[in-house]
Amino acid sequence: MSTGFDANTAYSMKDKVVIVTGGGTGIGKVYSQRLAESGAKVVLADIAADEANDVAAQIRESGGQALSVPTDVTDEDAVQAMADAAVKEFGGIDGLVNNASLMSVLPRGDWFEISVDRWDSVMAVNLKGIFLCSRAVYPHMQKRGGGSIVNISSGRIWEGNPNRLDYTTSKAGVVGLTRALAREVGDDKISVNAITPGFTLSETQMSSSSSNYLGGKDDGKCFKRPQTPDDLVGAVIFLLSGAAGFITGQTVNVDGGMYMH
Ligand SMILES: NC(=O)c1ccc[n+]([C@@H]2O[C@H](COP(=O)([O-])OP(=O)(O)OC[C@H]3O[C@@H](n4cnc5c(N)ncnc54)[C@H](O)[C@@H]3O)[C@@H](O)[C@H]2O)c1
Repeated sequence: MSTGFDANTAYSMKDKVVIVTGGGTGIGKVYSQRLAESGAKVVLADIAADEANDVAAQIRESGGQALSVPTDVTDEDAVQAMADAAVKEFGGIDGLVNNASLMSVLPRGDWFEISVDRWDSVMAVNLKGIFLCSRAVYPHMQKRGGGSIVNISSGRIWEGNPNRLDYTTSKAGVVGLTRALAREVGDDKISVNAITPGFTLSETQMSSSSSNYLGGKDDGKCFKRPQTPDDLVGAVIFLLSGAAGFITGQTVNVDGGMYMH
């Protein structure tokens, strides 16, 4: 008897074309690698061109499919060119992971010391970038008859974490954007969801955090161990997959049970 749900295919990434912004370093690099290992055709859109080119080359050497398109997500023309390159190479776009962010490069400190230039840069990358990338892929997802957008927010928004006021504010904006955009594109069968990662030991986070800051991070969790980039991969793949086909406008918290949302 057919139930309309096939567990063998519902979670599959095979041949899905997925763009990962900021896919050249940190957690985005791990998303790109795991998506490729799962059979997706991955487009890495990162301003860190050398790093993204290297990751794409490693994926291809391992038998996966990947294209690196060096992209500044705040640059409308560059973002459009990136989407066009993805379509030219792989024939369409099914998924977008809006992961690029100004985070690890931001010194932690008093909100009163944040310059207006820094505030504007954070909003440009963390919010305008998501708007531009989503807008660039939209017509291509429409052509495919649907698609999935996954926006990376942060667990900081549940706690109201201080010391990067601009960053926390931008990540709260990601949730608002996710909810409103989900309503805008629902008729196009495009899902838009967000993930709020807890403090995650990405290579970039490690290099920008003092040992003092790293101490005690696991105390409030149900699972008392450090969070790694791979802890986030399952949620990303699920939200990109057909198995999540009726889930949209939601924010999935992945933090080992620190916050219960
Ligand atoms: N690591 C954590 O603890 C943590 C926690 C919560 C949320 N997050 C979020 O997860 C995502 C990945 O985190 P991470 O630790 O790898 O962060 P990160 O700061 O190391 O990586 C950000 C990536 O975005 C890229 N990027 C920056 N500006 C860009 C631009 N203008 N155009 C294109 N790419 C640009 C960088 O080159 C880098 O590859 C981010 O959205 C971050 O805010 C991370």
